[in-house]
Amino acid sequence: KRPAGAPDPQLARPLKKVGVVGAGLMAGQLAQVFATHLKVPVVMTDLDQERVNRGVAAVRANFEKLAAKGRISASDAEQLASLISGSVSQDVFSDADFVIEAIFEEIELKKKVLRQLETIVSPECILASNTSSLSITEMSSALEHPERMIGFHFFNPVAVMPLVELVRGPETTDEVLATGFVTAQKLRKTAVLVHDAPAFVVNRILLRMMGEVQNSFDEGTDAHTADHALDPMALPMTPFTLLAMVGLPVAQHVTESLNKAFGDERFPVSPNIQRLIDGQKTAIWAKDDASSDDKTETIPAE
Ligand code: 3HC
Repeated sequence: KRPAGAPDPQLARPLKKVGVVGAGLMAGQLAQVFATHLKVPVVMTDLDQERVNRGVAAVRANFEKLAAKGRISASDAEQLASLISGSVSQDVFSDADFVIEAIFEEIELKKKVLRQLETIVSPECILASNTSSLSITEMSSALEHPERMIGFHFFNPVAVMPLVELVRGPETTDEVLATGFVTAQKLRKTAVLVHDAPAFVVNRILLRMMGEVQNSFDEGTDAHTADHALDPMALPMTPFTLLAMVGLPVAQHVTESLNKAFGDERFPVSPNIQRLIDGQKTAIWAKDDASSDDKTETIPAE
């Protein structure tokens, strides 16, 4: 059965080479799933050679780990590793059919990178964003060919989480969207088409839930009680553990986008999370003077 909003899959284009902008944690996980399931070359780029080398090495090491666990054969691991490469120059995307960006959540930066990409890639190349919360419409407004733009939002850990949110820009063609759905299926993900709204659907719900746990802590409930209150709901991990896994800066950026769109009432930005991001080891209950507060609690970070 065709998913709601999915165009005719016959319109989809096969992908022969994939580009990933960024070589960080999320980018590496994306490179891994694309190489594993599409069996095509995947090239990652980043700002400097050190980041590129680290990113490529991390993906290759993951294949080795999977082989060591007996999940894939040693020769498959070697073959998959050989599909992954990296560069500091985006020229390597000139013959890619699909380039996904997984860089910092900052709209102007993303627009700049997308504009640059368009000067390098072929006219047919699809440009995708793995943004957690930013507007695909706004990103595509930076492009000369906005019809090639699609939101392709994965969840952490990418290899395990089965969902992908696809986002259609105002000019995205049926061909591009069909390629998104068929590619997601090849990656063994369930794709859903979501409206281009702040944080789309999943993160908006998830951040509301995590925000309420955080509020409860900020208001004075002890960290353990707040974090474990939902245990009877059989969540796969507690809210604070999830927060640490997603990464505090990423979660804070999503919250800030939601706060901008929906206000303090629905999405307050936690001062305690900000303190942790700013490098303070302890979070305190909504107070400015940490030193005089004997109720200091530690939120598990990374
Ligand atoms: N990377 C790759 N694989 C991983 C992994 C990781 N980081 N963590 C766990 N896995 C794999 C394990 O290898 C294992 O695979 P196997 O059974 O084939 O050996 C499988 O996942 C299960 O792992 P475990 O038995 O160790 O642990 P759990 O059963 O507790 O599952 C979990 C771990 C899948 C991470 C689970 O706790 C979970 O689903 N947590 C919720 C995750 C979630 O909500 N993610 C969404 C975050 S929001 C987001 O990403 C959006 C972004 O825009 C901010």
